[in-house]
Amino acid sequence: MKPSSFRRKKITSHFPPQKKMPLLKLLLTSLMLLIIHQTSITSSPLDLTQGFTPISLDNSNFVVQKPYNIPINQRYIFTNGVHQFWIYPSDKPFTNETNTQPRTEIRISGHDYTCGIWQFEGYGCIPSGTTGVCIMQVFGGSPYATTTQLRIYNGSLTYYESPVLSQNMYDRWFKVNVIHDVGANNVKVYVDGDLTYDGVGRGANTHYFKFGVYLQNDPSSCAESWWKDIKVLRK
Ligand SMILES: *[C@@H]1O[C@H](CO)[C@@H](O)[C@H](O)[C@H]1NC(C)=O
Ligand SMILES: *[C@@H]1O[C@H](CO)[C@@H](O)[C@H](O)[C@H]1NC(C)=O
Repeated sequence: MKPSSFRRKKITSHFPPQKKMPLLKLLLTSLMLLIIHQTSITSSPLDLTQGFTPISLDNSNFVVQKPYNIPINQRYIFTNGVHQFWIYPSDKPFTNETNTQPRTEIRISGHDYTCGIWQFEGYGCIPSGTTGVCIMQVFGGSPYATTTQLRIYNGSLTYYESPVLSQNMYDRWFKVNVIHDVGANNVKVYVDGDLTYDGVGRGANTHYFKFGVYLQNDPSSCAESWWKDIKVLRK
């Protein structure tokens, strides 16, 4: 699988010339993007961020991790407010000093936390075909590396490998809110405003949020996720 045609269409100017899309396909693709964009606006009435204080974020807080041996723009672009990440199973790790799985992820930097109640909010979209990949993490745990991983398997959003939190995730924008109460050792995951996971954390440590694509078991030949309207909040 190649990175989705949506993405390729949108970034023609950033890449060496590629096969041009036929006009009709281009129009249909634009129409679909418009439709999924509209859906995301109308389908999330619940504001889970009320009572939280937004953290102000600028570019320096969005640190991209990508295969160490290639330039960022071969695995990540930010265009029209949308972060687009993709990765291949044969890619290198994000540094030459780790054997971890390939990833293209943004690590929220400058706001690591050890206490309090922290929230991540964002809208994600997974091009169909992407599977076996972590798309969002609450980093930091003990003895584990992470407190939460949201993954995509076969079109479902899962908490690690299970349970399934939400189905039919492909080709639509969905809203994700992850609320991590460090003191209460609790994590809640909301998808489109619905509580889909409510469980214990995985140990004290320094924490931060990540999102993008981080390959796991049985990955697709290309894994891709898009994200927009990222917020980090606390109380
Ligand atoms: C990783 O890359 C750095 C900088 O190029 C180099 O100094 C270091 O020796 C490399 N480490 C390994 C394990 O190859
Ligand atoms: C995904 O689908 C494949 C093929 O049907 C299957 O082998 C695999 O077990 C599924 N993975 C999960 C996590 O459900």
